Amino acid sequence: MKVKLAKSAGFCFGVEKAVNTVYEEAKKGDEIVYTLGPIIHNEEVVKDMKKRGVESVKIEDLDSLPKGTVIIRSHGVSRDIYNFVKQSGHRVVDATCPFVKKIHAIVSVQSGKGNTVVIIGNPEHPEVMGIKGWGDENTYAVENIEQFINLKLKKDKEIIIVAQTTFNHKKFKEIIDKISLLGYDVRCFNTICNATQERQVEAKNIASNVDAMIVIGDKKSSNTGKLVEICQEECRNTVFIQTLEDLDYDALLSVDSVGITAGASTPKHIIEEVQNIVRSKF
Ligand code: F3S
Repeated sequence: MKVKLAKSAGFCFGVEKAVNTVYEEAKKGDEIVYTLGPIIHNEEVVKDMKKRGVESVKIEDLDSLPKGTVIIRSHGVSRDIYNFVKQSGHRVVDATCPFVKKIHAIVSVQSGKGNTVVIIGNPEHPEVMGIKGWGDENTYAVENIEQFINLKLKKDKEIIIVAQTTFNHKKFKEIIDKISLLGYDVRCFNTICNATQERQVEAKNIASNVDAMIVIGDKKSSNTGKLVEICQEECRNTVFIQTLEDLDYDALLSVDSVGITAGASTPKHIIEEVQNIVRSKF
């Protein structure tokens, strides 16, 4: 059987940096290490960190916890939360991905100039909530054109648009086109991360040339969910697994070629395990 593993499968630059930061801080062993929420959307990694004494905590717990090091994850946080953590008496290590930080800066500058800012992304996603928190009452988050229309924004001034880093590139363009067609004057910052784009394009290419496609990632990871969506459009036989244990071997029995990709928060060893077993069993 032909097996094609996507080169872009697995940790992106920002996640790798954040995960390494946590391991480095835990290794020092001189302070308790907390992460503000799970460092990435991957149960396996979070469990492994817990074994090394790293605790995922909530912002509201910070005051009652023994002083230690608080790591801000790659998704980033709002300005208020950032300041709150800074003033909490804990040591702060900011592992916000630089690409997310760039969006914080755009939103902060543009809203500071009095502009209306619209973030195209899932309003409930921590990254988007964090980005929104660098703006003001004229900063909004929408994930489709209907939500945008419901905002009932005035057309008398320019609207600044940014994107959640993991937003689907095609959908982003479609939403912008529709907003422009409604008569809005838009200034658009395409802040979709290249890592996501590259992973999506490669997954699409591979999925369109194989009989079965395996997407590895955590069920809660939004970028993995999007990869599944893209692969399913190209290959009906697309399976979504979290670890090797979820793999249904029967589904691969009658195929000649398999593609493998993985979301940005999937550790290398899980990808390798899946790849090795598929190569050796079939
Ligand atoms: Fe950063 Fe892009 Fe990853 S924004 S966290 S490098 S997907």
